[in-house]
Amino acid sequence: SNPSLLILPGDGIGQEVMAEVRRVIEWFGAKRDMQFDVSEDLVGGAAYDKHGVPLHDDTMAKAQEVDAVLLGAVGGPAYDDLDFSVKPERGLLRLRKEMDLFANLRPAQCFDALADFSSLKKELVAGLDIMIVRELTSGVYFGEPRGIHMEDNMRVGVNTQRYTEVEIERGARAAFELAMKRDKKLCSMEKANVMESGILWRDVVTEVHADYPEVELSHMYADNGAMQLVRAPKQFDVIYTDNLFGDILSDCAAMLTGSLGMLPSASLGSPMENGRPKAMYEPVHGSAPDITGQGKANPIACILSFAMALRYSFDEGAEATRLEAAIEKVLADGVRTGDLLSDENSTGVSTSGMTDAILAALDES
Ligand code: NAI
Ligand code: MG
Repeated sequence: SNPSLLILPGDGIGQEVMAEVRRVIEWFGAKRDMQFDVSEDLVGGAAYDKHGVPLHDDTMAKAQEVDAVLLGAVGGPAYDDLDFSVKPERGLLRLRKEMDLFANLRPAQCFDALADFSSLKKELVAGLDIMIVRELTSGVYFGEPRGIHMEDNMRVGVNTQRYTEVEIERGARAAFELAMKRDKKLCSMEKANVMESGILWRDVVTEVHADYPEVELSHMYADNGAMQLVRAPKQFDVIYTDNLFGDILSDCAAMLTGSLGMLPSASLGSPMENGRPKAMYEPVHGSAPDITGQGKANPIACILSFAMALRYSFDEGAEATRLEAAIEKVLADGVRTGDLLSDENSTGVSTSGMTDAILAALDES
């Protein structure tokens, strides 16, 4: 049977960029004979409007069954005042949690044509291609005890950084596997100088390394890592780090490459019975209420997320590269959505205009 894909457009520009991804999927069906069983459902505010919850149980069950989930974005002003338990992002968190997506892959890749757009000097970022693997299901965001309590007549806020060796190990394996498919270089980042979890992290990653002797492993304190990412980002290939450091370092790395409208991500879990990992792919950006409904959204982040699905869920690395190359060509030709134009008075192409150009480049590939 065909590989299955559940599309959850969500809210705001999530719906607009996902409509473009559907055109790309159709192209691969028509021109490359790659057929997917595509189903579509609601998440976030859109699900709340219909069901009163940001993710219906039936949708959750579907997400567990398919080979990959593709998500747009959730949230928006209409839902800002909702009770915490039904806020749109809770739909996203439930998907990540119940699918146990422990490895969050955030590439920071600089297309040459956009090197001027980076916050750094062009020569530092041109040709940049690094991958941050962030542990996503544990660490200080989840550790117990947590809470705010009174102590000596003062309020005290408590969070706990907690990692088991199993949690560190499974993420490390994902990171080493990726490094094997890339430049065989892995840098693990923690703060073993001041944190017990950091000492364990370094130990476990070093143990896992024994299974991947071809990979060159280095360790770096995360604060130095932040500095090095900005000073000389091209020294890295794959970076493996915890939930908190990964949150910060991946946002930092993202800005090396320019616009939010360009950044894809993947969240992977354990292998399913068919050998494919549980997987969800989504752009890094949100629902962008400021430009919703205006045809201004850049669809590339979401299209690149589909490229990641081709590579990591469907073993179609060559087709993923074909799609990325088409995007690279379009950018080199100067095709730009508004977010990629530094001069506010110049006009770019619309959301669908960008996809038109990408499909035309695919036709020529
Ligand atoms: P945002 O990512 O939606 O927008 C930030 C800025 O970047 C805006 O000016 C927006 O117009 C621009 N932008 C974002 N994506 C773009 C694209 N593809 N093309 C062109 N411009 C783009 O973040 P913001 O404004 O902080 O949040 C808006 C809503 O999205 C909130 O409700 C927030 O909770 C939600 N959100 C959802 C996320 C998700 O679903 N994973 C992630 C981040 C925010
Ligand atoms: Mg963040």
